[in-house]
Amino acid sequence: MSDRMETSTLGAPIDRVDGRLKVTGGARYALELPVTNVAYAVIVTSSIAKGRVSSMDTAAAERAKGVLAVLTPFNAPKVDVPPPRGKGMRIPTVLQSTEVHYNGQPIALVVADSFEAAMEGAHLVSARYATDRPVLDMASAPTIPPEEVHPLFGEERVVARGDVKRGLSEAAVRVEHVYGTPLENHNPMEVHNTVAAWEGDKLTLYDSTQGIFSVRDTVAQAFGLKPGDVRLVSYFTGGGFGSKGGAWSHQILAAMAARVVKRPVKLALTRRQMFGPSGGRAMTVQRISLGATRDGALTAIRHASTSNTSTIEDWIEPATSQTRMLYACPNVETTYDLKRLNVGSPTFMRAPGESTGTYALESAMDELAYELGIDPVQLRLKNHADRDPELDKPWSSKSLRECYRIGAEAFGWSKRQMAPRSMRDGRWLVGWGMATATYPAVRQPAGATARMTADGAVVVRAGTQEIGCGTYTAMSQIAADVLGIPVERVRFELGDTDMPATPPSVGSMTAASTGSAVHDAATALKAKLAAMSNAGESPADAIKRAGGQPVEVTVQSQAGPDALQFSMHSFGAVFTEVRVDEELGLVRVPRVVTAHAVGTILNEKTARSQIIGGVVWGIGMALTEETQIDPRTGRYVNAQLDEYLVPVNADVGKIDVHFVDEHDPHVSATGAKGVGEIGITGAAASIANAVFHATGKRLRELPLRVDRVMA
Ligand code: MOS
Repeated sequence: MSDRMETSTLGAPIDRVDGRLKVTGGARYALELPVTNVAYAVIVTSSIAKGRVSSMDTAAAERAKGVLAVLTPFNAPKVDVPPPRGKGMRIPTVLQSTEVHYNGQPIALVVADSFEAAMEGAHLVSARYATDRPVLDMASAPTIPPEEVHPLFGEERVVARGDVKRGLSEAAVRVEHVYGTPLENHNPMEVHNTVAAWEGDKLTLYDSTQGIFSVRDTVAQAFGLKPGDVRLVSYFTGGGFGSKGGAWSHQILAAMAARVVKRPVKLALTRRQMFGPSGGRAMTVQRISLGATRDGALTAIRHASTSNTSTIEDWIEPATSQTRMLYACPNVETTYDLKRLNVGSPTFMRAPGESTGTYALESAMDELAYELGIDPVQLRLKNHADRDPELDKPWSSKSLRECYRIGAEAFGWSKRQMAPRSMRDGRWLVGWGMATATYPAVRQPAGATARMTADGAVVVRAGTQEIGCGTYTAMSQIAADVLGIPVERVRFELGDTDMPATPPSVGSMTAASTGSAVHDAATALKAKLAAMSNAGESPADAIKRAGGQPVEVTVQSQAGPDALQFSMHSFGAVFTEVRVDEELGLVRVPRVVTAHAVGTILNEKTARSQIIGGVVWGIGMALTEETQIDPRTGRYVNAQLDEYLVPVNADVGKIDVHFVDEHDPHVSATGAKGVGEIGITGAAASIANAVFHATGKRLRELPLRVDRVMA
């Protein structure tokens, strides 16, 4: 096969294959796809958090120049969505009722010839309300009786092994503390947006999404269509972080509006509308009790998490899941409780559960280390779980010891003095902290096609999404690696429900799921080409000799039964240096060292970017990010990027990323485990632990704001 190059591209830190398109503006995001005769829709939101819309005045808006339609709960077409507190996955608020559940809920949609006219029309809509007193305070809100909770994923409220009471009472040392994390909201660069176009009874949506098939199915259901009658297209998504995993209100509203005005409709949320109608991170109050022997062996862990949901859905922030598997401990009990607040429904947000949960657990482990006078890394090594203690299964692979070793070495951890306030640099107190990182490795069934044309070029297709992680690039590398051709000879196409189905880009599962399908498709193509080639003949020549028709294969790929024998997780360790100015309450993060074991690295550069992104978010989670709600009205007070404080360049110091050499054949065909979410896990705890080491102050409520550091 003369046109083969012997270079294996898997793992190589090549630039993104779509990088040039992105920086030149050639990458087309949903709103940029060409659609003719398009109308524009703008959402009007409620200014109360609880009650009813009693009447609306839409006359002025309807008279305004360019306005085509004003949809409200009083005139909107009926669609098939689950009722509030139904047992569905997600309950869109799409003008089906006058009931208001949160401040910022869509209560009208203005459709016009131009975006400006739609904005103007939206300003002219006014609403009267019958206002109830909203429930907004986590401390005073009643806990929902457990029997009335309908968990979206069937989560068990109490999960226990051993005897936690006894484990705690017999412990030589106990720590018990409560940790709090605030509401947060996703702020991807690209706001949610969609374009809806009907052709008869068939609907096409160009959508900014992490899950083309999940959005398709929800929208099809809403309009009583077969999934095949809805086509979802999404070539590029400007970040999602969990908020774009499924449909929210706007896709259904856009399709509804397009049907009413009989034209394609574009709809984008404003930045402010990203707070409320499209999910966010739940607030948590987490009580952790740890019991240990004098020499640091855990005898008991109890982790009770209370989080908020909305009055629409029963979303449970799964903050306790890592607590059941991370450390070898015979007696463990985790529970959750829910409270209803009049806020938008929470949802998945980067490492949902593990980000909030590792903050609490890894802070408590640090507190235990100080109680015992044991180095925090040593305490974790002492309790290293050699097999999954929850499922009682072997790990498919686990290199956590290596992560601690490599991270500690790169950081210089051995020079750390245990005592708080032991390091200073002028007016800055210096602190070093660490935490364990963990996230599940998940593979779901996925399909892909691979085709070679007579010129030797290969096109691989899979219905996945590019949400910024580097999917175009990594998938191209997998196919090139299997086929033994340069990556430039592969074109990977994604983002269309006409392609083979793959899972949504959530749960860090794309590398293992879609990656395996691409691997298997390339393998099948290679075999088919080999079977039709004569000795010494290149695949392209074989295709030409056979008549020049492209050779194509389609595969469905899923984990084999042996996968069930194993527990599959990624692991890592985060080491952080902070500097604290006590007089000004400032915390700076000059240096973070990470070491992660995430299976085979598909592209060292994009993988590194994922970890950096996660750590940056960890800095925001630890120090600045929180959604503030007006306690009287439920209005999202800081619903814009100048007041919702995500880290900027000046907030981020050096992030030194290390990967442990690991290959996990049980998780995926390439050995990759996925790297999208683990980077944020442990990061906030590592920072908070460093702040304790710097100051001797244990702050248990995030974010570590100036006022809290000074208090
Ligand atoms: Mo991730 S929060 O599952 O997009």
